[in-house]
Amino acid sequence: MFITKQNLIKSSSYLRYCSTTNSNNINSNNSSNSSISSVYQTFKKYDFLKRNLSNRDIWIPPLVTNNNYSPEEKDILPIIKSQLKASIIGLSDSNSKSNNNNNNYNGVVKTLEKNILVSTNERVDRNAHLKLNSEKDFTKENLDRFSKYFESDTTKNRFTSTWTQQLLPNSYKIDNTVSDQTNESFNYLYPILSFLDAYHSDQFHYTFHCLTTESIAGEVNDGGGEGKQMKKVKSIQRRLANKLKDTRKRIFKKMVKPFDQGLSVEKANLDTAALDPLKSPHQAFFIVQLLLTNNDDLYISVNRSLYNQLWSLPLPFNQGVVHIDRDLKPPSRAYKKLIESFSILGTIPQPNDICVDLGSSPGGWISILSRLYKQHTTDKLCIFSIDRSPLEQGLEKDIHRHLITDGMKWRLTSDDISQSTNTDANIWLFNDMAIPPNKSCQVLDAWIKSGKVNYFVWAIKFIGDTEYNNTLELITKIMKDNNITTYCTKHLLNQGNEIMIIGKV
Ligand SMILES: C[S@@+](CC[C@H](N)C(=O)[O-])C[C@H]1O[C@@H](n2cnc3c(N)ncnc32)[C@H](O)[C@@H]1O
Repeated sequence: MFITKQNLIKSSSYLRYCSTTNSNNINSNNSSNSSISSVYQTFKKYDFLKRNLSNRDIWIPPLVTNNNYSPEEKDILPIIKSQLKASIIGLSDSNSKSNNNNNNYNGVVKTLEKNILVSTNERVDRNAHLKLNSEKDFTKENLDRFSKYFESDTTKNRFTSTWTQQLLPNSYKIDNTVSDQTNESFNYLYPILSFLDAYHSDQFHYTFHCLTTESIAGEVNDGGGEGKQMKKVKSIQRRLANKLKDTRKRIFKKMVKPFDQGLSVEKANLDTAALDPLKSPHQAFFIVQLLLTNNDDLYISVNRSLYNQLWSLPLPFNQGVVHIDRDLKPPSRAYKKLIESFSILGTIPQPNDICVDLGSSPGGWISILSRLYKQHTTDKLCIFSIDRSPLEQGLEKDIHRHLITDGMKWRLTSDDISQSTNTDANIWLFNDMAIPPNKSCQVLDAWIKSGKVNYFVWAIKFIGDTEYNNTLELITKIMKDNNITTYCTKHLLNQGNEIMIIGKV
């Protein structure tokens, strides 16, 4: 399957999703007292006023999926996980030193199971958001602050977010001694969903994602079947949904499922339009994540999914993973990295844009790029492919030019740019050259300084594990020096011992 707007519009949940308009809600200027009062009544009825809310974040390190990693790459995973753990500990150290009130981690990092990292934080200003004890506390101001609890921005630290596959902010634990975990989950979730619905009104939507420690460790992906844990958590989710439907249809109907299809280029289509509704600043899209661990503890996290030019953690994809359909046309599996990068960037090159692909051979990325707009030949991308080696046979005919040369030195000239029929064409810079990290950073810096880049998708390859921190520091410096704020550095699911810098100049 590939995502197209047409496919998605067929889905009734999507139609509901798009047809909404803003109406009176707590969030609006003429906030309604009756909405506030109904939130209070719900909190009271479900004993929510007495609940201690959680400050516990769960960091999911890169997933082990047997399909994606070579044996050497698998060896590097424990090192990447320890890197993530170190950077979470570093996060608490550096933040307490810098006394940053907004994101003050002063907690411990524990390894829960299967290397899922649980960080129990005491964020300084957190509890102030949660003081909703009696009816008099239910003021618009307090509810505004309470809403921030579900919008935690935990991607500020680039080191940590680089190595994290997914994040479950403020995970609420329902441990295995609770006799009816579904009922308990409902009593926790329903008041929150009611609040978010009243607060954001028609703009509010949410989706459920299910995770298990087995699925995270990749133990059940191999045979294609679902493990016992996944069956159990999905059954909890189904029963929760039924309870929501029985209790209040309006809340049940706010549940959407926009991302259950794989992404691929088929004929002329890799359409990230599926993500568009969620990118609107007016839409309030929340992810409810249910994580079941080996010993049957259940964690629930509710958090807003944010798109500020790039997706931030938690990613709106289940487990933070974009499903990419198998494609037999590209000569290398590197194509998956490119599609994953596009989905994180939330956009793709537009017709007539100029694409430079450094280290393009054998042509996995070229195969994707050249097929994006193949049907409409006048809309084709203007693709420059650079490598020391030739492209796989048959690929060269679909692009503007393949040059056999040193990709560290080659630059785009004004003449090259004039090859595009669109004078406003964006320039996309792609790099997958196997060169040392510091050299790679220098080349990226030179390209950005040349002023001939609008978007970049830049792979940095490591040898061993000694250069992670220096490289991330160097990237931060380059971005700062060049005033680039829209970017992320991320270890993609489809990468081994490398990271991707994705951004916009
Ligand atoms: C991992 S492969 C790239 C795979 C490619 N992205 C794809 O989709 O098939 C790395 C490539 O970088 C190229 N390379 C390494 N150093 C280079 C350099 N200095 N100039 C040009 N190409 C280089 C290699 O020849 C190799 O083809």
